[in-house]
Amino acid sequence: MQDVNAPPTAASMPARLLNRSIGKKILMSLSGLVLMAYVVGHLIGNLQIFVGQNALNAYALFLRSIGVWLSVIRAFLLAMLIIHVWFAIKLYFENRGARPIRYKRKVYQEATLSSRTMIWTGIGVFLFVVYHLLHFTFIITNPRYAHLEDALRRHDVYSMVILGFQNYIISAVYIVSVAIVGYHIVHASKSMFQTWGLNDTNFEKILRPVTVIFAWLIFLGYLSIPVAVLAGIVKLPEGVI
Ligand code: HEM
Repeated sequence: MQDVNAPPTAASMPARLLNRSIGKKILMSLSGLVLMAYVVGHLIGNLQIFVGQNALNAYALFLRSIGVWLSVIRAFLLAMLIIHVWFAIKLYFENRGARPIRYKRKVYQEATLSSRTMIWTGIGVFLFVVYHLLHFTFIITNPRYAHLEDALRRHDVYSMVILGFQNYIISAVYIVSVAIVGYHIVHASKSMFQTWGLNDTNFEKILRPVTVIFAWLIFLGYLSIPVAVLAGIVKLPEGVI
């Protein structure tokens, strides 16, 4: 049987850390940072739609052409997503189980409000990603987009995105979802500062507005795509129905 009073060994340290809230929070913030980096990179790629059909389709083809690396990146991102969601659920139930009486009233209210909204916006982002993958990656929700090709016989991602957003309901789903993504990022950054002990420091006073501006840029960047399609700023190329 394990001696609970025995001093921690190097091998038992990671397991002990993971059993503590702070260990879970560290993993959540690291996986969250990776996912956030993806959201930024993905936005930059998607904004190629404003350059034109050739730019967006070339970018999509480039991603596919990296072959095995694409699979490695996808597997890594999936692992980050699973870690993030798994520990979010664990922390949520741990916090629910914690006795609120231990906190001063204001701190308790702030902490629960933040974690409550985080779990719901997190679920919102997760459901959006599932729908989004079925929509644009696996092309299951609108299978006719799978056969779209441009003049160079590349998959016509450009027309696929425009045809998708010409549907008001789909655009509305995306607009609400990217607003939730932005909101999640703002609150996530706040709890990340707490995890790294940066809250209530001068450093946080500078970082806080930076993260709010960052979240707004992410939101407005993603929002610009369905809005540009609906406003007719980005149009289907000749010959595409
Ligand atoms: C206006 C908003 C968005 C547009 C137009 C868009 C567009 C696309 C397209 C076209 C693909 C498929 C690429 C391909 O297979 O060639 C894709 C994949 C993906 N998108 Fe988005 N996206 C948007 C927002 C988002 C957001 C906000 C997230 C994350 C929260 C996200 C996460 C992903 C993921 C995880 C994939 C799968 C990447 C892969 O194939 O490995 N997207 N997106």
